[in-house]
Amino acid sequence: MTGCAGFIGSHLCARLLGEGFQVVGIDSLTEYYDPKIKLASLDAIKSHPNFEFIQADLVTMDVEPVAKQVGIIFHLAAQPGVRGSWGTNFDIYLRNNVAATQRLLECVKESNHLIKFVYASSSSVYGQIASIKVNEEHPTHPFSPYGVTKLAAENLCALYDRNYGVPCIALRFFTVYGPRQRPDMAFARLITAAFKGEEFSLYGDGSQERDFTYIEDILTGVILAGSSTETTRGVLNVGGGHVASLNQVITMIEELTGRNIQIVKRPHAKGDLQRTSADISKIGNLLGYTPKYDLYEGVQQQVLCFQRSF
Ligand code: NAD
Ligand code: UGA
Repeated sequence: MTGCAGFIGSHLCARLLGEGFQVVGIDSLTEYYDPKIKLASLDAIKSHPNFEFIQADLVTMDVEPVAKQVGIIFHLAAQPGVRGSWGTNFDIYLRNNVAATQRLLECVKESNHLIKFVYASSSSVYGQIASIKVNEEHPTHPFSPYGVTKLAAENLCALYDRNYGVPCIALRFFTVYGPRQRPDMAFARLITAAFKGEEFSLYGDGSQERDFTYIEDILTGVILAGSSTETTRGVLNVGGGHVASLNQVITMIEELTGRNIQIVKRPHAKGDLQRTSADISKIGNLLGYTPKYDLYEGVQQQVLCFQRSF
């Protein structure tokens, strides 16, 4: 697994180890947010006999010896964050999202062991949507530089499949939340603001809507994809099954924490989508995926986790 010390990756490691997999995790511990948070997220599993952690950068390391031995690759390493992908930051997005993916695909293009290459793509590849829900046939018109790099890496997966038969599935995750959510994301910032009495900067008017997906549901989708049949390839949405506005989530977090959040209104952020909404019938039909967590229950879990560590 790449990106094993990140928000989604660290949860995925724990779940895979729990299901009896042997996991080799690679992560360079980038400084996008505090690497201590990333290392701490591996605390519970770092001494597990079936887990090996390699701290290395996918762009510069010799990944071939590792990549050639494994049966399934879960490629989660990336530079995330939609709104920060403008300007000179774009170089980091190109490097960690596009170049890193190309290096990895090069190393496995002639592997005899590889059963599946699962790439963590993003709802951001669609851009602003006009329809109620998007299925995988919907045109991709990314609205942020981040989205462009996630789509470019998806295209790399598809072309290594077409040319070399690398068995790729790109999963388009829709805004993921839950315990240990990345500290730059809205729920993490809202919960921190509620408990610490800090301000929350609200970009726009809060009417933006997301198909929020609870971490455990994402993990289910990822593992189903990793264990899918040889012919299951291409692109699949992984959504939470419900859409809510940021304003609705703010009210929910105030209710769950019993505190008022000091909201400071900021201008709409460039690249920010007004709405995301996943049609998940394809992954449902092909792999039996159904999200299990409703938003209230999931947010409650994230609040409880924060409270325990506060
Ligand atoms: P994260 O930043 O917590 O995890 C990504 C990890 O990748 C980090 O630990 C980082 O150190 C590592 N990394 C980055 N570049 C690397 C490199 N060159 N070599 C080795 N390691 C490197 O992010 P996350 O929220 O857990 O996201 C995981 C994946 O899911 C990303 O690909 C992201 O684009 C995708 N995704 C996330 C969401 C979401 O809501 N969190 C939604 C859609 C897609
Ligand atoms: C999230 C992840 O951060 C991306 O890495 C991922 O690719 C994307 O989901 C996806 O689904 O593809 P986003 O939906 O923007 O991106 O999630 P948040 O960062 O949690 O933001 C949600 C909304 O809250 C956005 O409209 C954002 O502008 C707003 N927000 C966020 C604020 O108003 N203030 C903040 O401090 C943070």
